[in-house]
Amino acid sequence: MQHPADTSEDQRPLLVTCPKGLPPFLRAELEALGLPARELAAGVLTRGGMHTAMRLNLHLRTGHRVLMEIARLHAADPVALAHELGRLPWEDIIPVDGHLTVDSSVHNEHVRDSRFANQKAKDAIVDRILQQEGRRPDSGPDPVGACVFLHWRESDVTVYLDTTGAPLTRRGYRKMPHSAPMQETLAAAVVLATGYDGQGHFLAPMCGSGTLAIEAALIALDRAPGLLRSGFAFQHLIGFDAEAYEELRREAHARARKAIGGRILLSDHDPAAVEAARQNARTAGVEGHLEFQACDFRAALVPELEPDLGPEGAGVCVLNPEYGDRLGRTDQLTAVYAGIGDFFKKRLSGWRGYVFTGNAELAKHVGLRAKRRIIFYNAKIECRLLEYELYQGTRKAKAPDAAAPVPLPGA
Ligand SMILES: C[S@@+](CC[C@H](N)C(=O)[O-])C[C@H]1O[C@@H](n2cnc3c(N)ncnc32)[C@H](O)[C@@H]1O
Repeated sequence: MQHPADTSEDQRPLLVTCPKGLPPFLRAELEALGLPARELAAGVLTRGGMHTAMRLNLHLRTGHRVLMEIARLHAADPVALAHELGRLPWEDIIPVDGHLTVDSSVHNEHVRDSRFANQKAKDAIVDRILQQEGRRPDSGPDPVGACVFLHWRESDVTVYLDTTGAPLTRRGYRKMPHSAPMQETLAAAVVLATGYDGQGHFLAPMCGSGTLAIEAALIALDRAPGLLRSGFAFQHLIGFDAEAYEELRREAHARARKAIGGRILLSDHDPAAVEAARQNARTAGVEGHLEFQACDFRAALVPELEPDLGPEGAGVCVLNPEYGDRLGRTDQLTAVYAGIGDFFKKRLSGWRGYVFTGNAELAKHVGLRAKRRIIFYNAKIECRLLEYELYQGTRKAKAPDAAAPVPLPGA
């Protein structure tokens, strides 16, 4: 096994994990960073060394963890796993005065709870370091130091260094979660799905804790979300190249834009939500690029579209209403969804309107024909992002239909 920090070997498999529904967005992000990418059900596979892993941790918006493959083992049961892991040179990877966390995904007849595999693996690794160095690192479930991840299927084990630690969705800016906040990675994917790139206006009139608008601002400003984090697991490995990491951070800072082409407006009828969003935006360093309002979505300020922004730069409005599973009651929400349809028709002519919801029945009450429907998962709930093209004179659908065929503009 070559040392993971060895830059002469720069072609290790890197598995970037993400929730189901996000791989197409994650793949596009990797390709934009110049890396080959193969989509999996809940991740994307690429190749590279520690430098690439550091870059991905800094820049990715829709990935959760960057896992670097370091070994493949055969182990039929936990005893064999411990034996095989004990043969790897962990003393060259994990500092004796460091901290180790092991996590895993296990399908093996001898292991009912993956925490048992984590414990066995952790013991084998620290015992190996103790044998070689006479001391052992601390360990525990909090990812505060070096992190190892095992993917164990029957008797095939892939051993990864988790270069991330706490998942990338924890950007560090959401100190004030409001009701039912969206994960930051999901919010980023939703913004990317709208095609918003900072050239037009972005409206979030049910902003909650502000996640969609904050992610929109980070995208518009080309700010690497990893710059907001306090740290990553790769910083706790032997051979961590602090200079190369600082250079990557400098490059990311230099690449960020100072201003946004259009306006980003966010509002909520709950003043406490607006205050939470404002504080989160301040922590994310984007407060000055956002305009806040406490009001019903129907009264939200809608800026004039600027014709020179062109069709791609036209305004985008994303609403993420409650959908009855966690908050609010379905019958009370019917009127809200119908109100969204009216709001889109009456106030957002020429815009692209989006509704993100986990309730397909409620979505029908928007009453407009959706041009596009993208499936996402919010925790375990299947959700959809419905796109409405709000050209002049958008018609009411004859029957409520959340995802009918694409209408021709002006038809
Ligand atoms: C599911 S939460 C949005 C969560 C948000 N995406 C986030 O990441 O924090 C729905 C939000 O819509 C707001 N809301 C509900 N009805 C509203 C209305 N009529 N006008 C404005 N905001 C409304 C709620 O106060 C709540 O903050």
